[in-house]
Amino acid sequence: MTSETRFPTFHLDGRIAVVTGSGRGMGRTFSTALAHAGADVVITELPGRESAAEETAAEVRAAGRRALVTALDVTQLASIKTMVAHVIAEWGHIDILVNNAGINIRQFAIDVTEDAWEQIVSVNQKGVFFCSQAVGQHMIERGQGGKIINVASQMGLVGDEQRAVYCATKAAVVNLTRVLALEWAPHAINVNAVAPTYVRTPLVEALITDKAVHDSILRRIPLGRMAEPEDVAGAVVFLASPASDFVTGHTLAVDGGWTAA
Ligand SMILES: NC(=O)c1ccc[n+]([C@@H]2O[C@H](COP(=O)([O-])OP(=O)(O)OC[C@H]3O[C@@H](n4cnc5c(N)ncnc54)[C@H](O)[C@@H]3O)[C@@H](O)[C@H]2O)c1
Repeated sequence: MTSETRFPTFHLDGRIAVVTGSGRGMGRTFSTALAHAGADVVITELPGRESAAEETAAEVRAAGRRALVTALDVTQLASIKTMVAHVIAEWGHIDILVNNAGINIRQFAIDVTEDAWEQIVSVNQKGVFFCSQAVGQHMIERGQGGKIINVASQMGLVGDEQRAVYCATKAAVVNLTRVLALEWAPHAINVNAVAPTYVRTPLVEALITDKAVHDSILRRIPLGRMAEPEDVAGAVVFLASPASDFVTGHTLAVDGGWTAA
């Protein structure tokens, strides 16, 4: 081993990454950041949101990498299987999966309906599990390892009002990450998660325009600002890269110190 090869690399040259829910918000930034690190990126979005996905694809291509746009509803197993088959038919294999798609409906626990419960659990929990299962099966059969990165939340590590279902699903993602890491370690598949604090995206836009809410959030973030999608993208690129080859089952908080309190 030369002295240079001893050092970690964050390069993803030649890797193929799938990012779920990548037409906007963090999914778009993750896609572009992975492309800048060298990956070709599969942009997946809900049917009907193709134009948003095409905008992300344009950013990936501007970074000099290939982009493939395909429809995906993570709540539908048939849609997941079609997406994986499509990527393998077009590009041959998948090295990296970022389970990014997620939703929230803010309500006090007392007001949560069965329908709201099922919507949130279907995307945040069922979607993460079955996307991981489908891509994990492909990675195991291929025998070349892989990286799975689940987008959890600080709300999977601590509680907060009006987020009973969201917090429960994100805590489930944190523990699912550990189980998949254990089961798939023999196949050199690393499974990790990121747990962001509030990040400026369309998901929280309406919430943070309320100055009182915005100020109360900032009071709980020791670094004194909300996260930008790029803050979280650094953690995702790390967990996708060879630099994190000995990290698995871990949830990396990207929260400005919120959960350190
Ligand atoms: N923004 C935050 O403050 C914050 C903080 C912590 C964690 N997160 C998590 O980060 C992830 C991305 O959030 P964001 O803020 O970018 O949200 P966003 O609403 O901007 O983007 C979410 C994306 O997921 C897609 N999506 C929704 N349902 C889907 C489905 N059934 N199948 C496929 N795609 C679907 C949407 O079309 C959208 O493109 C989510 O998992 C969210 O829970 C967000």
